[in-house]
Amino acid sequence: MAEHNGEDKSVDIRGVSKIFTLSAGDLPVLDKVDLHISSGEFISVVGSSGCGKSTFLRIISGLESATAGDVFIGGRKVDRPSVKTGVIFQESRLFPWLSVEQNIAFGIHKKVDKEGRKKLICQHVGLVGLAGFENAYPRQLSGGMRQRVSIARALINKPGVLLLDEPFGALDALTRIHMQNEVLRIWSAEKSTMVLVTHDVDEAIFLSDRIVVMSDRPGYIKNVLDVDISRPRDRSSVPFMEIRKKIYTHFFAESALSLEYYL
Ligand SMILES: Nc1ncnc2c1ncn2[C@@H]1O[C@H](COP(=O)(O)OP(=O)(O)O)[C@@H](O)[C@H]1O
Ligand SMILES: [Mg+2]
Repeated sequence: MAEHNGEDKSVDIRGVSKIFTLSAGDLPVLDKVDLHISSGEFISVVGSSGCGKSTFLRIISGLESATAGDVFIGGRKVDRPSVKTGVIFQESRLFPWLSVEQNIAFGIHKKVDKEGRKKLICQHVGLVGLAGFENAYPRQLSGGMRQRVSIARALINKPGVLLLDEPFGALDALTRIHMQNEVLRIWSAEKSTMVLVTHDVDEAIFLSDRIVVMSDRPGYIKNVLDVDISRPRDRSSVPFMEIRKKIYTHFFAESALSLEYYL
């Protein structure tokens, strides 16, 4: 098992199932999901809307409990949220009344002294490319900049594991590509384990070491594909397109829809 900076950031998902109990009856959402993610690995999860991807991430983060099965991070069982695990959601979820700097500083551990806080804020503002915007408020920023503030806020406690739930879904195509490059840069600087949920197949191929394809609800792992292409990746290269085709084949294997329509 690969380890970075001596810290075990592996994620072990063992037999995780989830059933939501609703007044109309039980809703099975995840069905015996097993997955081992190595320290520092970049994993993407793709699957159709409602198949249980967000529930899966929330269980890894400790925000939601599994009905059956367990999650271990660095060998320790997850039973509540931890500062060691950062979460980034689709919408930036910033406090509108706080500045960029104050939003980023919000999660800093109380034990960190004033000097330490200043240093951390400065480092993280730089890491996400927001130098000069420290005193701006969320309403004065573009969608991409707001999402960068969320990334900085999630990174401030140096989480070993970063969970990203369709973080760029609301951004335009060009900003999205820019943010994907930023995520790669941050990943190589921080060496954290990344789990990204996305419905954008190209985004998954561009970023990941492996891609997990989930079935429709109740979600189980249909397939795991290795993305064996060196970085930086060219989205128009033949190996890239071959993987894209493979994923669409897995996605739509049981569908009546024509493959050609999507390629
Ligand atoms: N807290 C909850 N209570 C009841 N049902 C939920 C809850 N969270 C999600 N669901 C249901 O579980 C299913 C999977 O949701 P979700 O994990 O958000 O899917 P995805 O992220 O893949 O679109 C959906 O049908 C959703 O309505
Ligand atoms: Mg979701």
